[in-house]
Amino acid sequence: MAKSKTPLLDELEKGKWPSFVKDIKQAAQKSPMAEDLLQQLELSYKDKIGHWKHGGIVGVKGYGSGVIGRYSDRPDLFPNVQAFHTLRVNHPTGWFYKTDALRKLCDVWDKHGSGLTNMHGSTGDAILLGTKTEHLQPCFDDLSAAGFDLGGSGSALRTPSACVGPGRCEWACIDSLDVCYNLTMEFQDKIHRPMFPYKFKIKVSACPNDCVASIARSDFSIIGTWKGKILINPAEVTIYAGSDLDIQKEVCDLCPTKCMEWDGKTLKIHDGDCNRCMHCINLMPKALRPGKEKGATILVGGKAPIVQGALLSWVVVPFMKLEPPYAELKDLIERIQDWWDENGKSRERLGELIKRVGMRVFLKAVGLPAVPQMVKAPRSNPYVFFWPEEIQKEVK
Ligand code: HEM
Ligand code: HEM
Ligand code: SF4
Ligand code: SF4
Repeated sequence: MAKSKTPLLDELEKGKWPSFVKDIKQAAQKSPMAEDLLQQLELSYKDKIGHWKHGGIVGVKGYGSGVIGRYSDRPDLFPNVQAFHTLRVNHPTGWFYKTDALRKLCDVWDKHGSGLTNMHGSTGDAILLGTKTEHLQPCFDDLSAAGFDLGGSGSALRTPSACVGPGRCEWACIDSLDVCYNLTMEFQDKIHRPMFPYKFKIKVSACPNDCVASIARSDFSIIGTWKGKILINPAEVTIYAGSDLDIQKEVCDLCPTKCMEWDGKTLKIHDGDCNRCMHCINLMPKALRPGKEKGATILVGGKAPIVQGALLSWVVVPFMKLEPPYAELKDLIERIQDWWDENGKSRERLGELIKRVGMRVFLKAVGLPAVPQMVKAPRSNPYVFFWPEEIQKEVK
């Protein structure tokens, strides 16, 4: 038997999880790029370092965003991946496809690229992995003809993404799909032509379960919520009571604000104290529903550790009604981006800018009132700044 050229990767064809090695080998049967990728990856496994050169700047006409250039540092060994650029293709919101749309995408990619993809990139885009510079423009033209546009990259608005929301989920408090699509279309210019100090991401979850992890992975997080009472269906509560579920122990005792009461027959919720954490609704989906008055909480600042430390987004608007055409939401996004654009240092994320100059300055600049829901606790040190005009007022 011929000796395998990829002994290390071959190990990863074993086991139960679908093997990416098997998939690349399958693609390699008709794509020399995929074959060379496999060989270069084997070398990386052996050397324990990546074999891509630093950086790479390529693109398509009219856009400054959407293509990530990449070159092999061993083109002598792997000529077919000498250039191996990635195209980010804006996915449909909620990642709902029809097979004919996927067929079109595959046909374009088989014609112009390696045949390898990532479904999907962490931000949401359909990722087309590996093509040559001269194929970029024709590939983009064919994608456009098939109804697809590129997503974002660089210091731009990145591709917004959303949870499946009302498409498949009964807890959706807002139409996350429509909000996401609407914002994507509204801000096309900001996605395609980088104009900011750094990247900016928007994610939309239709309830606090936050299935797209918007609070951790976007600078501007939109999370559906409700006002008023959780809707209770007493008949369904009785059915749960007769099931394996221990309502006292598993629901009421775990309510973070302890605002639920269960006497063995009737479930009461003191909604004034409920923080809409979703726990009771998650456990008793047939009996409990989010309240009738629906909207979203807006949070900002989420980012990964570099430079100043990881941040989860924090509340800037506790409750906003969200209905098409989402004028209030878009206006807030514009105000925040304008302020950041004026004041942000090069490669400073929104969250870091706010940390640097303070919420006081941020809120004043974007015209939002300071409200208690913005903080977990008041400050513990006394180093408080005042606006000069406030001091004048006090003196009188
Ligand atoms: C080697 C010399 C010095 C050392 C080691 C020193 C050390 C310190 C330390 C440890 C603090 C407390 C910082 C804090 O945790 O809040 C402090 C505060 C302060 N020092 Fe010095 N200091 C020195 C010289 C000076 C000099 C020469 C001046 C002024 C002429 C000065 C003015 C101040 C002031 C105004 C504060 C209070 C700042 C504030 O709390 O807002 N220091 N210093
Ligand atoms: C007899 C002379 C002085 C007395 C009795 C005195 C007393 C005090 C007292 C009681 C405090 C407040 C401490 C606290 O907040 O817990 C203080 C703070 C301070 N004093 Fe003096 N002081 C004297 C001279 C000076 C001089 C000559 C300077 C500077 C050249 C000075 C600079 C400061 C500063 C910067 C603070 C603020 C420290 C901080 O905010 O942490 N003091 N002093
Ligand atoms: S975030 Fe909420 S509404 Fe969206 S899919 Fe998850 S549970 Fe459903
Ligand atoms: S949503 Fe959370 S806080 Fe509100 S009643 Fe249910 S468990 Fe308690």
